[in-house]
Formats: sequence, structure tokens, C-alpha cells
Amino acid sequence: MTHSIETTVLRVHPERPEPEKIKIAARVIRNGGLVAFPTETVYGLGANALDDQAVLKIFEAKKRPADNPLIVHIAGNEDIHLLTERLPEKAEALMNKFWPGPLTLLAPKSELVPNATTAGLATVAIRMPSHPVARALIAEADVPIAAPSANLAGKPSPTTAKHVLDDLSGRIDMVIDGGAVGFGVESTVLDITVDPPTILRPGPITKEQLERILGRIEVHPVAKAETLAETIVARAPGMKYRHYAPKADLVVVEGPPEKVVEKIRELADGRKREGKRVGIMVTKETADRYRADAVKVVGTRRNPRTIAKSLFKTLREFDESGFDVVFVEGIEPTGLGLAIMNRLRKAAGHNIVRIS
Ligand code: TXA
Ligand code: MG
Repeated sequence: MTHSIETTVLRVHPERPEPEKIKIAARVIRNGGLVAFPTETVYGLGANALDDQAVLKIFEAKKRPADNPLIVHIAGNEDIHLLTERLPEKAEALMNKFWPGPLTLLAPKSELVPNATTAGLATVAIRMPSHPVARALIAEADVPIAAPSANLAGKPSPTTAKHVLDDLSGRIDMVIDGGAVGFGVESTVLDITVDPPTILRPGPITKEQLERILGRIEVHPVAKAETLAETIVARAPGMKYRHYAPKADLVVVEGPPEKVVEKIRELADGRKREGKRVGIMVTKETADRYRADAVKVVGTRRNPRTIAKSLFKTLREFDESGFDVVFVEGIEPTGLGLAIMNRLRKAAGHNIVRIS
């Protein structure tokens, strides 16, 4: 898209989107255009998943590398058969339990799915979102919708329509503004074409929840990697990109909370003596233990959902305020904490200080 296009903003009711507005957006999708829309995880940038020209526009608008496959979103179970002819046997129990919701499942792709959508892979990633706006849009468009997160490649995923516009205004046809999203981190991506099933990206549906249905599952080594070295082993497609690279140097400090506080204070003081602008991302429990140019509270440890919800917004805020270095408190990497730590470690380019 060399020429700037006008991006229409369509404000809708988040729970009961107005049908006449959804019709307008659905028409854009059917005509091969790009529409960003809220889901329960983050905002997605949607196009007709079965139209390779439309899908290529997504890659262009986001500046996304062509070898990073997209998730295809559906509104009802019947749509799944357009996308795959051999649904893995474990799919049904997961669909019954977690759909609609933030779980993405891999299946062998059908002929109908263009190579552009799956970046040439033999599998397609499928998810049925629960957000009323996403569901209404897909149903009205009456085609599966391919949608990556609606950010420029290398930016944090958007959790508001404003974030989408900050990145993509003039590059996409439309944004449906349905307010702030619920979870704030992207869906769990689960490969059920392998045994044991393997989490490629941790998300709101946790390993623990999946294990209750499936028994033993694995987390891909890259998805739980702490060090850069660990990310070099056999990566699944899309894992090699540092999705959430902030402008400042991000350093994640992990370990027992009390020691983490001490370590961050020491590191922050050192960098300040060097004349650097230092930011610190903390939890409510420890916020008053720091003095820094800017301490931002991301959420409370007692409820990791609050951290997930504000994570990308807070990273964007640090980006806007021109810090040289940002220290981040690590949290326990279990449950939703694994998804949070996966995003933070990636954002930090695996620049992690671990204390025991
Ligand atoms: O919550 C979400 O999943 C959001 C909303 C918009 O639905 N979407 C999203 O899409 O996060 P994206 O493109 O930002 O991330 C998709 C992830 C990437 O890590 C990609 O590599 C992986 O899913 N993926 C997609 N298709 C795959 C496939 N066939 N095999 C392995 N990984 C795949
Ligand atoms: Mg993304």
C-alpha cells in the first residue's frame, strides 16, 4: 500500500454491536478489504481467509514477514470443514470445552485455504473467538476471517482501537472500535497434530486447563525459553520473530519477589548514575519500593489477569515516553503467568537477570 488510504472508524456497542454497522464492515471483508476488530484477546486485522489477494494485503499493511502464518477465525463449528478435511481426533473435546474462546488449534489445511494464509505450511491455525463483535462480523461476512494482531510487526499487540490507529491508520480500510479488550494477551496456540499435543504459544487457556482435558501435553521449548540460546532450537514458524520489541532496552528480573525488588533497585541506580532515563514496570504489591523516573504499575500479583490486561498498553506507554532502559519484575510462570512471561521475555529479547 504505497498510497495512504482513509481508515474509517466504526464505533459499535461492545456487547450488542449494531447490525447495520456490522453489515458495512462485513461488506469491506467480502470485497477483499482489511477491517480491524476487537476480539476477547487483542484487536485483530481481518481479511477474507480464502482470498489470497486479500490476505496478502494483511502482510503488506502490517509489514509482516511472509513466512509467519495467520490464524483463521470462524463463527460456528460448521465452518471448520471449509478449513480442514481431517480434524485431529483431540479437537472435539477441546472445541466443546473452550470454544468460543481464546484457544487456537492446528489442523491439516484443506485445498480451499490459500498458501498465503498459512505461509505455505500444511497446517492451518483455527480459532472461534467469543467477542460479540468478532462473532457478528465473521457471521455477517459469511467467510472465515484471517486475522493476526492488528499492530505493525514488531509492536505490542493492540488492546484498544487507538493502538490500532497509532500503528495502521492510513494503511487499512476500517477499524471497528468496540472498546478495550478483555484478556490483553493473544490466544493459546496448541498443536494437536503431534503427540503429545504441544503449546506453541501460551495464552489465556492455560497448560493446566488443557491438561485436564488431554492428559500430558508439552510446552514448546521456545515458548518457555528464558535465554536466547534456548530459542535457537527447532523453532516452529512464527516463533523466530521478536514480536514485542520496545524502543528502550527491556530487562526482565526473575526470582523471589523480595530479591527481585532489591536487584532492580540496584540495577536502576547504576543506570541512573550513567545518566540514563530509567523506567520500571512493577506490580501493585511492590510499587512503593522504588524511586525511578517512572514507575508504572501493570497489575496485581494476586490476580495475573490484571497484569495480562494492561501488559501491552504499559509497554506502549514506556515506548512513548522515551526511556533508555526499562526494568520489569518477573512473575511466577504458571497458569496465565506463563503467557505473561513469554511475552515479556520476548519483548526483552531474552535479556533476563535471574536471581535465586
Ligand atoms: O488472540 C489471537 O490469537 C489474536 C486475535 C486477533 O485472534 N491473533 C493473533 O495472531 O495473535 P498473530 O498472527 O499475531 O499470531 C498468530 C500466531 C503466530 O505465532 C503464528 O506463528 C502462529 O500463530 N501460527 C499460525 N498458524 C500456524 C501454523 N499453521 N503452525 C504454527 N503456528 C502457527
Ligand atoms: Mg501478533
